[in-house]
Amino acid sequence: MQNLELENLPSPEVCIKEVGKWIASYPEQPLAYLHSFGCQLNVADGEKLSGILKQMGYGFTDDVTKASLILYNTCAVRENAEDRVFGTLGSIKKLKQENPALIICVTGCMTAQKQVADKIKKSYRYVDIVLGSSAVSRLAQMLYAHMHGLKHAQDIETYLDIPEDLEPLRESTFKAAVPIMYGCNNFCTYCIVPYVRGRERSRQPEKIISEVRKLIQDGYKEIMLLGQNVNSYGKDLETPVSFPELLREIDKIPGEYWIRFMSSHPKDASPELMDALLECEHLAKHLHLPVQSGSNEILKRMNRRYTVEKYLSQVDYIRSKDPDFSLTTDLIVGFPDESEEDFQATLNIISKVRYDNMYSFIYSKRTGTKASLMPDSISDSEKSQRMQRLLALQREIAVENNKRFIGRTLTVLCDGESKKRLGNMTGRSSENILVEFAGTPDLIGRFVRIKVTESHNNMVCGYIL
Ligand code: SAM
Ligand code: SF4
Ligand code: F3S
Repeated sequence: MQNLELENLPSPEVCIKEVGKWIASYPEQPLAYLHSFGCQLNVADGEKLSGILKQMGYGFTDDVTKASLILYNTCAVRENAEDRVFGTLGSIKKLKQENPALIICVTGCMTAQKQVADKIKKSYRYVDIVLGSSAVSRLAQMLYAHMHGLKHAQDIETYLDIPEDLEPLRESTFKAAVPIMYGCNNFCTYCIVPYVRGRERSRQPEKIISEVRKLIQDGYKEIMLLGQNVNSYGKDLETPVSFPELLREIDKIPGEYWIRFMSSHPKDASPELMDALLECEHLAKHLHLPVQSGSNEILKRMNRRYTVEKYLSQVDYIRSKDPDFSLTTDLIVGFPDESEEDFQATLNIISKVRYDNMYSFIYSKRTGTKASLMPDSISDSEKSQRMQRLLALQREIAVENNKRFIGRTLTVLCDGESKKRLGNMTGRSSENILVEFAGTPDLIGRFVRIKVTESHNNMVCGYIL
């Protein structure tokens, strides 16, 4: 079979059935090992990929050495994310040598880049299937092609259809991710995502609402609505619906649950969004508002399309109504030619907003993006030092911020056992603060009321009321 014939494969439904028959003929149920790197949207894609594998008859294993199929769902956002995948691929070469029937498949954002797919084809010859991003429904077809003898099947298209009919196999029984849109139109100059994920596509509001309703009926307690910029949700629909309107519709679903969402691009964050956050019963009291930099000059060169002043006016709006409202952010340190003054401006915005948490990254050059062509005179060691300064400031702020919870009672969704202290459980409050308390594993997946007695640099502790 030649590559060309990949265009003429039977439909995904037929391929799921055919691969299912092939799998049923195995003496024992074959096991799949699937790992998703990167953001929550990619993890949500991974759950759909698992759903298809399950439909075809695969079981699952966490032990890569026991797998008949290994599937890596990759991330390309920074160079170290890609390096991790190449390292992992190198480490499983031995498994393929020992078991030539093992199927190795690589998909996700990395493989949507031609130079990466070429590198895998050339240097990792033992990879059987290379599949681009958003190609969830294509997996069954690629396995079908493999089953019919096609070696090194490669299809790096980004599929723009929305995989509505595919049931995800969810990892958690109480927290669920629900993508509300796919792709991105924003082309921030540092970012690879729009190139590997295609343009924005919103799901129909009815589909989202009925999925959330079903999850709540099934006992899910926290629903995370996902999109690269949820604030532009619905603009591409035949009958446009705004994100705050969608939130208010979801909020009408009765039950005990929280709604969270990410990411919210400041250029489109509206007063209507803030009002929904403050007024809706089920919306968690937390907003992740990625600022990326505190310098207007850098924001302009990042093509973020807001100013520090506009960003701070959004923060003022929400804090004027709830002075305690929890905000978190993403920041990039060492964007090309970021001056000491630019960096100081970033420290200033952190001090002004006093975030409860932040995700900070050293700028990573991504081939194909506009920023990759910008001159950069800042050394790696200077960038690392700036990162250390930024982390030190954030640590100080988080320690102070967490003190505000002492003596208060927080509602917490218990999500697991403490890894550090035996007999303790952990969870997150509505503000997304990590909370630790004495308890038993039967609390996992349940809301508990915690009286806070102590605060630490990245969490608070208390006891169950
Ligand atoms: N769509 C989200 C937004 O606009 O906030 C961000 C999604 S991106 C997957 C997550 C974070 O990765 C970004 O907010 C940014 O801070 C960081 N990031 C993206 N590209 C990067 C790059 N080339 N180098 C370093 N960090 C990067
Ligand atoms: Fe990347 Fe910007 Fe799109 Fe976020 S909004 S995914 S940072 S291009
Ligand atoms: Fe990575 Fe793709 Fe997400 S590049 S961060 S997995 S959209």
